[in-house]
Amino acid sequence: MKFASLIVALLMITACHRAAPSPAAVTRPRPSLYEMEIGKQTFQTYCAGCHGDTGAGDGFNSFNLDPHPRDLSDPSFQKTKSNADLEDAIRRGGAGVGLSSLMPPWGRTLDARHVDAVVLYIRSLRRGPSR
Ligand code: HEC
Repeated sequence: MKFASLIVALLMITACHRAAPSPAAVTRPRPSLYEMEIGKQTFQTYCAGCHGDTGAGDGFNSFNLDPHPRDLSDPSFQKTKSNADLEDAIRRGGAGVGLSSLMPPWGRTLDARHVDAVVLYIRSLRRGPSR
């Protein structure tokens, strides 16, 4: 009998460990780390020279630019722009969207996937409210 209750106790312990995943964990899409990495590489290759590694507008070339690139990581800037706005500026360049022509157009350099990925990456550069 003691042995039987031991078995029951063991079964209960294993049952606890097999708790069903919460519905949120099942349905929420995982962030695409692969696309994010493509965006990061693209940003570092084509954009960071002016916009800076963190998007703060302090790339090595920024001293040379008038106006300086704005701080893309600023949460209040991020709030005012949709992804479509950012894509548009990236594809058509500053001259295409009424900003400085020092922002080059990337529509012939980057394909749709890379533009999407770089926008995803810019979103990840958004600073938290505390900083
Ligand atoms: C030669 C320097 C330079 C490079 C390289 C460059 N930018 Fe810019 N970018 C600028 C300048 C200057 C502006 C206009 C000033 C500003 O930030 O509003 C600008 C503006 C922007 C804006 C619009 C900001 C707004 O006010 O709406 C976005 C988005 C942007 N750049 C993204 C990128 C991305 C992504 C890349 C790389 C694919 C890139 N830039 C490469 C200089 C550069």
